[in-house]
Amino acid sequence: MNKEKVNRVVIVGTGAVGCSYAYSLINQGVVEELVLIDINEAKAEGEAMDLNHGVPFAPSPIKVWSGSYQDCADADLVVITAGLAQKPGETRLQLVEKNTRIFKQIIKEIMKSGFNGIFLVATNPVDILTYVTWKESGLPKERVIGSGTVLDSARLRFELGKYFNVDSRNIHAIIIGEHGDTELPVWSHAKIGIENLDDVLERKKDLKKECLEEIFVNVRDAAYHIIERKGATYYGIGMSLVRITKAILKNENSILTVSSYLEGEYGQNDVYIGVPAKLNRNGVHEIIEIELNEKEQEQFNYSVSVLKDTMKSVI
Ligand code: LAC
Repeated sequence: MNKEKVNRVVIVGTGAVGCSYAYSLINQGVVEELVLIDINEAKAEGEAMDLNHGVPFAPSPIKVWSGSYQDCADADLVVITAGLAQKPGETRLQLVEKNTRIFKQIIKEIMKSGFNGIFLVATNPVDILTYVTWKESGLPKERVIGSGTVLDSARLRFELGKYFNVDSRNIHAIIIGEHGDTELPVWSHAKIGIENLDDVLERKKDLKKECLEEIFVNVRDAAYHIIERKGATYYGIGMSLVRITKAILKNENSILTVSSYLEGEYGQNDVYIGVPAKLNRNGVHEIIEIELNEKEQEQFNYSVSVLKDTMKSVI
């Protein structure tokens, strides 16, 4: 009888983001093996012990252990959450130097194991660190993915769901660009249920387009507001990482705004940035190039330029 394919995910970094991802992954029954790696080995060990005590309640069996980079050899997906996080008022881009240094060391160790799966990067600035991971690992671009603006799009869908009183799972709206201050909403393609956004605004005179701009600004700055209050963000990103993991490991061919490598799409080259991409077992199967209006294209180009300018200091 052929051995059932066992999905192994390795998480590098058992801080709040890594552990929120691990906890959510177990509770959603997505993988069969989960390995935790951290420079603080005792922390990784303690997290694995604690998570294992919940496994009897998980929807499916899973083996969780604290391991080493050698465990990446048989991993399907290595998810990197290690690195410094934003302090109150700090931008994601300001973390670039320190986290790039950390990443170069981590990628070297992972590739020594013979890892030949898919990378999923969450550490900020995620678009630049995904580029660094691609460069340092030598893996094909489609197998190096960043969480991109998946969380930002989810935040927008949540807020629009509240505003229009519609289940957020029926809101189809995306944010693209840098996962950061230059991201932009693609209102021209937004749908509330099965209606175009503009048709809903036409029908519901009491709902104003200006309110949508305010909703977007709150979404764009959400991390700052959360960090001011609780010091960090981790549940939203943790669940976003699980959504991306399922799309890959379940071979879904679903479309998410992950940080993908552009080679001419959206008129841009040699940059990792949040755009709609079709995800399956092989990583980014296809970048979905939607028609942006003039304002959206201008904002997108600016977002690319900010990332490229910042990258110059580390690439
Ligand atoms: C946030 C972090 C993941 O936006 O950048 O919450």
